[in-house]
Amino acid sequence: MSLRLGDIAPNFKAKTTIGEIDFHEYLGNGWGILFSHPADYTPVCTTELGRTASLQAEFEKRNVKVLALSVDSVESHKNWISDINETQHVSVGFPIIADEDKSIAHAYDMIHPNASETFTVRSLFIIGPDKKIKLMITYPASTGRNFVEVLRVIDSLQLTSGYSVATPADWKEGEDVIVGLNVTTDDAVKKFPKGVKVVKPYLRYTPQPNK
Ligand code: BEZ
Repeated sequence: MSLRLGDIAPNFKAKTTIGEIDFHEYLGNGWGILFSHPADYTPVCTTELGRTASLQAEFEKRNVKVLALSVDSVESHKNWISDINETQHVSVGFPIIADEDKSIAHAYDMIHPNASETFTVRSLFIIGPDKKIKLMITYPASTGRNFVEVLRVIDSLQLTSGYSVATPADWKEGEDVIVGLNVTTDDAVKKFPKGVKVVKPYLRYTPQPNK
């Protein structure tokens, strides 16, 4: 059965560019991003891994460990990293998993046979400190992902895990958030001393509470 939000992210042991890892142990108590790409030495993937490396400090600030994955070998990944570093002006520091037997790809449903029988699609999972899946996205091989959007989702997930709020469309860190549906307006006024703006009984805004 395929994975759904709220499921425990399947654990695995894997060969990676930084050595063998146990996925859950590697994540520790922090957040994780596991993302697959179709193949090494391909143009869009080169830009995606480069972009991820350039945002490494942003991921670290949010206590997020990033792991990439494809069905290529560790040797291939390591050689390709030189190209990524050279062309994208970065230093890839996160592990790239070599899933040569496709066991992780199958566990995470990263192979979509009607897109490609052999390659992983561009799947991305955000995993919380409880090891549960918080977000899943799947892009086709022809479209590189937006890793600033991934950071934006992490900001929303980390905020909403600590406060009874949700984030509106296109929300960015620092902007007003939505009072959770489970909070009455009377309680909201007490909980959110910066103020509550009631647009409709079900649509209430408050300044971001942790700012
Ligand atoms: C790419 O990364 O550019 C790519 C990879 C596989 C298929 C198509 C494009």
